[in-house]
Amino acid sequence: MEYVKLHNGYEFPLLGLGTFRAREDEAQRAMEYALEVGYKAFDTAFIYSNEKTIGQTLKQQNVNREDIFLTSKLWNTVSQKTDAREAFERTCDDLGTDYLDLYLIHWPGSYQRNAAMWSVLEELYQEKRVKAIGVSNFNIHHLNSLMSQSTIKPMVNQVECHIKLQNHALQQFCNGHEIYLQAYAPLMSAQFKEITEDENLAKIGEKYGKTAAQIALKALVSRDIIALPKSSNKGRLQQNFEIFDFELTDEETFAIRKMNRGKRIFPEPDNVDFGFSAWW
Ligand SMILES: NC(=O)c1ccc[n+]([C@@H]2O[C@H](COP(=O)([O-])OP(=O)(O)OC[C@H]3O[C@@H](n4cnc5c(N)ncnc54)[C@H](OP(=O)(O)O)[C@@H]3O)[C@@H](O)[C@H]2O)c1
Repeated sequence: MEYVKLHNGYEFPLLGLGTFRAREDEAQRAMEYALEVGYKAFDTAFIYSNEKTIGQTLKQQNVNREDIFLTSKLWNTVSQKTDAREAFERTCDDLGTDYLDLYLIHWPGSYQRNAAMWSVLEELYQEKRVKAIGVSNFNIHHLNSLMSQSTIKPMVNQVECHIKLQNHALQQFCNGHEIYLQAYAPLMSAQFKEITEDENLAKIGEKYGKTAAQIALKALVSRDIIALPKSSNKGRLQQNFEIFDFELTDEETFAIRKMNRGKRIFPEPDNVDFGFSAWW
């Protein structure tokens, strides 16, 4: 496993397990396999309805809290500061922990709401209840507004990012502010076959004995983007984990860069109603 150092000095794994749409049995199975394979970081959110299952599984597996990284996210319907603190405490209770490694604002709302929620995250950080704080689905203008109204810069921006949506401009902006990108839907989520059955990626993989999925994940971590693939299948979890024993050439990196299509699977943050529910 490789790590990146966030701007507060906290070292965070470059690969973590995504858990969106994995509930109860599936979430438990995924966590058990992932721990066995060696995953250290686990990405969840209040809205995934699996925080309790994840917490119970960690307890059953006797996992040492300091050995793992837990990320969760504050959901969109919370806009009052006291509610945000309650949401954080509930997430911690459900996960069976008294601190998180990373807590994110799940989606941007109005600038005012973002700043209010961020001030709660800053407090939690100063109280050492979270090791790092960040945002998710933030475009450049959301980040600019937030940074102009706050004292701590986000350490992470978790956004949709994969071969067909490479986010180079957003990454360049974030690099300039020491904000790491985390890639959600790194395998294009429900449209994963666009990656796993891609002939160009498979061809690159042949040389290294790797699959198209492994090449797609490698392309992200090579850019220092933290990848969060979801799987509840042990073989695929293992496969997604084995991406640190080879390097892509410049030519391969360039060929992959040309595959960018600006294609989104999830809503574009500026073009979705804040209270939307159809996706969850
Ligand atoms: N911040 C946000 O707004 C946001 C939004 C969406 C997602 N996320 C986070 O990002 C994580 C990843 O996104 P995602 O779950 O939507 O999609 P994803 O990781 O891009 O793709 C998951 C799909 O790919 C399949 N898969 C995984 N590894 C594979 C492999 N090696 N070969 C073939 N198929 C493979 C999985 O099936 P199997 O399980 O059957 O292997 C699953 O159907 C989420 O779980 C969540 O933690 C965050």
